[in-house]
Amino acid sequence: MTDTGVSVSTGLENVADLEATLESLLSVERFDPSAAFTRRLPMDADRAAAEADPNAFWARKAEELLTWHTPFTQVLDDSNPPFYTWFADGMLNLSENCLDRHVAAGRGERVAFHWHGEEGERRTVTYADLLADTQRLANGLRSLGVRAGDVVGIFLPMIPEVAVAMLACARIGAVHNVVFGGFAPSAVRERMEVSDAKVLITVDGARRKGRTAPVKAAVDAELGDLPALGHIVVVSGPGGTGAPMTAGRDVWYHELLATAAPDCPPEPLSAEHPLFILYSSGSTAKPKGILHTTAGYLLGATYTHRAVFDIDPDTDVYWCSADVGWITGHSYIVYGPLSNGVTSVMYEGAPDYPDYDIWWRLIEEYKVTVFYTAPTAIRTCIKWGARYPGRHDLSSLRVLGTVGEPINPKAWLWYHVVIGGGRCPIVDTWWQTETGSALISPLAGVTSTKPGSATLPLPGISPALLSEDGEPVTEGTGILVITKPWPSMLRTLYKDDERFVKTYFSRFGPSTYVVGDAARLDADGYFWIIGRIDDVINVSGHRLSTAEVESAIVAHEAVAEAAVVAQYDEQTGQAIVAFVTLAGDRSGDEATEAELREHVARRIGKLARPRRIIWADDLPKTRSGKIMRRLLRDIAEGRELGDVTTLRDPAVMAALTAKVGTAR
Ligand code: WT7
Repeated sequence: MTDTGVSVSTGLENVADLEATLESLLSVERFDPSAAFTRRLPMDADRAAAEADPNAFWARKAEELLTWHTPFTQVLDDSNPPFYTWFADGMLNLSENCLDRHVAAGRGERVAFHWHGEEGERRTVTYADLLADTQRLANGLRSLGVRAGDVVGIFLPMIPEVAVAMLACARIGAVHNVVFGGFAPSAVRERMEVSDAKVLITVDGARRKGRTAPVKAAVDAELGDLPALGHIVVVSGPGGTGAPMTAGRDVWYHELLATAAPDCPPEPLSAEHPLFILYSSGSTAKPKGILHTTAGYLLGATYTHRAVFDIDPDTDVYWCSADVGWITGHSYIVYGPLSNGVTSVMYEGAPDYPDYDIWWRLIEEYKVTVFYTAPTAIRTCIKWGARYPGRHDLSSLRVLGTVGEPINPKAWLWYHVVIGGGRCPIVDTWWQTETGSALISPLAGVTSTKPGSATLPLPGISPALLSEDGEPVTEGTGILVITKPWPSMLRTLYKDDERFVKTYFSRFGPSTYVVGDAARLDADGYFWIIGRIDDVINVSGHRLSTAEVESAIVAHEAVAEAAVVAQYDEQTGQAIVAFVTLAGDRSGDEATEAELREHVARRIGKLARPRRIIWADDLPKTRSGKIMRRLLRDIAEGRELGDVTTLRDPAVMAALTAKVGTAR
């Protein structure tokens, strides 16, 4: 147990000193909140209230933190599990909560986003600016025929227009479906097609490290013939390339705004009105359309953003380095921070452009106080070296956060020492696309932290561990479940209630949410997330399903069969390894390997490209023909093979082992 104070910030100039400092801290099991950290929000009352009566606690928070048109009288309806509703008879508008109420309170000139472009451009977007654009775009969308309940696709880079697009949908009750900008247009097509999107909002071109890719043209080629898609709205992005426009269907974003009426009163919507769909990978090739609704989701994002990071909207400058295309961006770049009325930094570019110090340069320039990123990013920064953050004054920072995957203690300590100067609490926030907001996490400055542990449930949240046969585990390893509904939980999978029930609520009954992670509980009741127990791979905090990657690979004409597994990777947490059997007498060479990787990038996106392709004459299968991925994982990670007795043909493994053994 230690208060690490500020004495550890010395090793920055000297690599050996830093190594020694980190080494010496590795034996520290627990970091108590530093005496130097002054928390701004009290939390004891919340904990006590939530323990006494979680529903009453959530009801009070919903009244305190959200602005309602019609107050709710009903809190949780659990009469039809797992189809829960929260605050169902209340009416509100989410964009009003994120914009109008701040402007009405005289905070219209407060900066919502300090946007920083890849080439160093700066744009200051105030709450009043956001409100003005949101109203015009909302009217513009209506003029294109969008009505409450219609789906609008959003495929945009990290520019303020992405927030405007989301808020404009929320203002008129349209359901947004954001696709991460790094996904391939064919993945956009799939997501638009299954959700019957009426309109897609995209960009002419997107910049990445000095190069601009034509987005709209690629979108046209893939989506041009979708029958439901009536219009494409095109933002002229910072990479401004111009774009082919189809008359009658396509419209420039700036022209739509210029001709739209400036006022669009927020439409009062039911608390359970659908807010967005976000596709995430599951254990089959078909991505899951996770559906969130209005009030419960907003409450989760607003409350946890405030409580976990100890946010004071009047003084904090907040920065979450994620992309809006992921749930982290939805909850902790757009909805949580805007609902709380905070000033944020939004950065367009990559962490290594123009140089490896860009993030730290931005923290210094905007005097960021709260910084939220992913373990994989921290490990990459460690690789680049402490000299890059060492060039900048990071003394404005007071709270650090991580999300996406378990953080290894070494990376936690580096973050603590090099970025946090030993004085900033680290909040390791565990949650999922499905949970809408963080569920297990320290409260900055309140919870004692242990490097690698997401620590304790947040107020109002009831996680537990179960054994394979459903017995409670009070200490040790088990299957992570949530035993009580919480406001920001997903409501269903879009148009697929059956898969919703089957995926999350079948194993231990209809009122126990099965997370899909294994975890360990220690003697202090701290949760340590181990990782996924389904066929989901976590690459740099991004979820990919083995089946999805396999079906992309198999779609290539040269491939007969493929099996995809995860391999431990120091940088990305996990990396994709594909075992591929080629068709006919094609042999695996470098050219074919490059072709396959490119093929996967085109079908899903670059992040799904296999790190390694291993050519296999045959794949290990059970007698019933099921591929034994467990054994392939052993091979990929160079481990002793597990049980092979159920294999149809054990010789297959011998051949593979011999091959990989020599290839490495
Ligand atoms: C999966 C959810 C939540 C936004 C980012 C990912 C893993 C997430 C942590 C953490 C250990 C974590 C879990 C989870 N995960 N945060 N702090 N510690 N693991 O959202 O794509 O829905 O993935 O990410 O395995 O189930 P997602």
